[in-house]
Amino acid sequence: MTDRQVLYQHHPAEHENTQPWSKSALKPRAWHESDADRLSLNSPDWRFRLSPTVIPVDFTAVDYDDSKWDKLVVPSHWVLNGHGKPIYTNLEYPFVVDPPRVPTENPTGDYRYSFIKPQWSGAGRTIIRFDGVESWFKLWLNEVEIGWSSGSRLPVEFDITDHLSENNIICVRVIQWSAGSYLEDQDQWWLPGIFRDVTVLHRPNNCADDHFVHASYDYTTGKGTLKVDCEGEFTRVTVPELNIDMHAGDSITLDVEPWSAEVPRLYRGTLATDGEHIPLNIGFRTVEIRDGNFRVNGAVILFNGVNRHEFHCERGRAVDKETMLQDVLTIKRNNFNAVRTSHYPPSSHFLDLCDEYGLWVVDEGDYETHGFGFVDWRKNPSDSPAWTDALINRTQRMVERDKNHPSIVLWSLGNEAYRGFNIGLMANCVRSRDSSRPVHYENDWTGEHSDIWTHMYTWPEEIERIGKREETFDGYGYQKREVSLLTEADRVRLEKSRREKPFIAIEYGHSMGNGPGGLLEYQQIFEKYPRLQGGFIWEFIDHGLKQTTADGKTFYAYGGDFGEPRGTHGGNFVCDGLLFPDRTPSPALLDVKAVFQPVVFTLDDKKLLIRNKYDLRDLSHLRFSWRLEKYGEVVEQGELDVPKVKARHTVTVDLPSTLTTARGDSKAGWWWTVTATLDGATWAPDGHEVAWAQYPLPHSENTSNKAVLTSLKIGNDTVSVGPATFDSTFGKLLTFGSIGVEDSHLDLWRAPTDNDIGGPITPDWPEVSAPNRDKWYTAGLDRIQNRVDSVEKVGESLVVKYTDGAAIYDRCLRTTMTYEARDEGRSLHVGVSIIPENDWSDLQLPRLGIRLTLDTKSLERVKWFGLGPGEAYPDLRSSVRMGAWEKSIDEWQTPYVMPQENGNRMDVQYADIVDDQGQGVRIEGDPHFNLTVRRWTSEQLTAAKRVTELEPSDKTIINIDYANSGIGSASCGPGVADKYRTVLKAGEAMRFGFVLRTLG
Ligand code: GAL
Repeated sequence: MTDRQVLYQHHPAEHENTQPWSKSALKPRAWHESDADRLSLNSPDWRFRLSPTVIPVDFTAVDYDDSKWDKLVVPSHWVLNGHGKPIYTNLEYPFVVDPPRVPTENPTGDYRYSFIKPQWSGAGRTIIRFDGVESWFKLWLNEVEIGWSSGSRLPVEFDITDHLSENNIICVRVIQWSAGSYLEDQDQWWLPGIFRDVTVLHRPNNCADDHFVHASYDYTTGKGTLKVDCEGEFTRVTVPELNIDMHAGDSITLDVEPWSAEVPRLYRGTLATDGEHIPLNIGFRTVEIRDGNFRVNGAVILFNGVNRHEFHCERGRAVDKETMLQDVLTIKRNNFNAVRTSHYPPSSHFLDLCDEYGLWVVDEGDYETHGFGFVDWRKNPSDSPAWTDALINRTQRMVERDKNHPSIVLWSLGNEAYRGFNIGLMANCVRSRDSSRPVHYENDWTGEHSDIWTHMYTWPEEIERIGKREETFDGYGYQKREVSLLTEADRVRLEKSRREKPFIAIEYGHSMGNGPGGLLEYQQIFEKYPRLQGGFIWEFIDHGLKQTTADGKTFYAYGGDFGEPRGTHGGNFVCDGLLFPDRTPSPALLDVKAVFQPVVFTLDDKKLLIRNKYDLRDLSHLRFSWRLEKYGEVVEQGELDVPKVKARHTVTVDLPSTLTTARGDSKAGWWWTVTATLDGATWAPDGHEVAWAQYPLPHSENTSNKAVLTSLKIGNDTVSVGPATFDSTFGKLLTFGSIGVEDSHLDLWRAPTDNDIGGPITPDWPEVSAPNRDKWYTAGLDRIQNRVDSVEKVGESLVVKYTDGAAIYDRCLRTTMTYEARDEGRSLHVGVSIIPENDWSDLQLPRLGIRLTLDTKSLERVKWFGLGPGEAYPDLRSSVRMGAWEKSIDEWQTPYVMPQENGNRMDVQYADIVDDQGQGVRIEGDPHFNLTVRRWTSEQLTAAKRVTELEPSDKTIINIDYANSGIGSASCGPGVADKYRTVLKAGEAMRFGFVLRTLG
């Protein structure tokens, strides 16, 4: 006998919160709101107490005094309501990977709430439903333990009939870390709490336990078949519009209009039992994989999709219905047709909206174990019998809850949980319940379990190989290892079957900060190869949490801002969406809208080809108009008469002669625009623009007026060239008109974007290429020295020669600036010639141009003719169009959550930078230039980590660029395509010029 006594066993096997499933939960069923009574327990009046660890349960007595506890609104996350802190991790678990054990420091939220027994209108049972609680909770009613559950983004119901009294005290203990946390390692904030609705439901006698709507569509006959399974007697299905009145379980086939994301035709019906009436939203459609393609109603579908997390910058995942509607409308209005509910089932209400407004939905299970990658996937739940029940339970709960949504066309088992036999069991579990939709799982690289083959962040070249079915079977990263474990027979079998499967880029276009660039290239490849069925941009919204500095400025927090230890969090990787955290659109959203536009115009001499890219519908819901503009002013406009265009067909229309007749020269600013707009309000107001294209009017060549130079004047220490004075020793521009010039020099630097910085090297991405930023720092592009070599008068020109280069290296740029006065001295022509010397070939330059720093802050507005109104970069310019635009310097800036290069305007023919009196500077292109105007320098922008760190100076800093490199998507994915990189060649001269003119 040893003298040993266990005083407290922290992780006994039976310790409930290390078991990832539920106790006493009711069988999962379809989510709906019937006419049976219900009582919402959503309220700001829940009492709440947070403990730093799991303390003994002491609060369930009915007469427990909770008056000193705080109040907390349900639904919400306590960490966003003044209790504790959010934690962001990307791949990592924020605790020791020792499943199923969790930390001793385990924030524990105790909740209490009282409610009067609801008076239901008939006899029956009473149940309580929690739609989402992160991550584990236990429930007591009037001191009686009712049950417990985990599975944060899934509902759970308990029968409380036998424990109700007149006055009820409900107590809930929510524990942040549980065994379930090992299954919920999605890239997002860890946000504990009761964050979705809590409802007490009457289940009248003879109500429907569950029901399953089967509504298929035979595109060859135009007939739909409806059958609603429902347990119980006396169940009737009625659909008045179709004159259907039949027993549940019966089936009927009749003429119907099909449901699709493009035309979301829903038939409203009712499932009636003796006890209740359940509304049915029936969409007839058939999903199948046939002849190597994913099809709906016979048609091959191209997903123009987006990955959407549930997120609100103040409320986290406790997203309200108005916000969900706003999201669905934003998604529709920006030409998406699909959503992947990354990486868990969203609120049921969101799916109702998808049914109603029309979106293809990939509904994903609440399952990710990415953090096991750091320990070489040892003990990964996907491959461990200890987790089978939990994973099947989650899968069933998703399918049961969501099975009646016509919008869901694909089930996804989860995300990034590597491989293992449980994946096969989950897939079979789905199929055995619902054979009408295919199953997807991205980490199933061999395609053993997934009906569709998908990848993330795949390079366009590789996608093209996949499109041609020429990809290698063992791909890259983990996939290689997985394939090497196969027997030869399995290898042959799986390779054959995977090659026959359709392909979806389940995540691509990583929208972190400025970017992604290069979407157009992806789209062109998707549209070229039938095997490729589009993809889903990563991701809808930045998850920055709204915070306020001590001096009252708003910023959006990301990883590390709440004290997450270095090495465990993903920094601003949580901000990688197309919307800023407050849901204002980023420039990339507009780019996506243009890339995804369902109608494509092509000009063919005097005709316009109109291609309908919808998979299923014609264009009769659109109006086609044109307008002719001169320098952005509408000169003439009209409508185009477009014949009916069937899905995926093209028609040709004649253009009015006014659009085909040459006028002026290329500098005359004549452009015409054709638009397709909604003919009647639907998910957007009448007139909402769906697609457009723009063309310059045919024109004659520019007539070259030989420039008449005005003499330059040499003073004591200065030289005057028209409106400008220069220092005669260094050739430095001192004044322009009445404005002091602090600096002007050749500029190569831009504040690295998230895509220049590149993503973390993760276990999945061993071969990520070196990011731009590191190459730029190594090359010293942030510390270019501008050495003056000579200042000369050549005829009436002032010629200043420089050598620009970085210390350590011999590579340099021989730069010649030639200044000439024109227009009788009112303007200054600046000619720039750059000859690179030595080897520059390995460098993509951030930018190449002239930075002018004006010593004034009175210039406040920019009016320009060029591409706009938003920013653009060579590989991110689909949304901008030629026009006359105006913005204040403040509005010019794009407030990326982590400050970085932004605001470049392309193809600017002229820009006036003026004060409130219209005085200032005009810059004219020769023929055009890239323009950026700021109150801070690129170096300040580089240093800032939050927008609140950017202090406006009293200068006006203008970049007039000859070139600006593309953006790419290297924060997670491919870098900038070669054709969008600014790369110099030794000895190859570049020349550009512009004119500066005083205004006012
Ligand atoms: C993927 C993952 C997403 C997100 C993205 C990077 O691997 O599925 O959840 O983390 O990378 O932002």
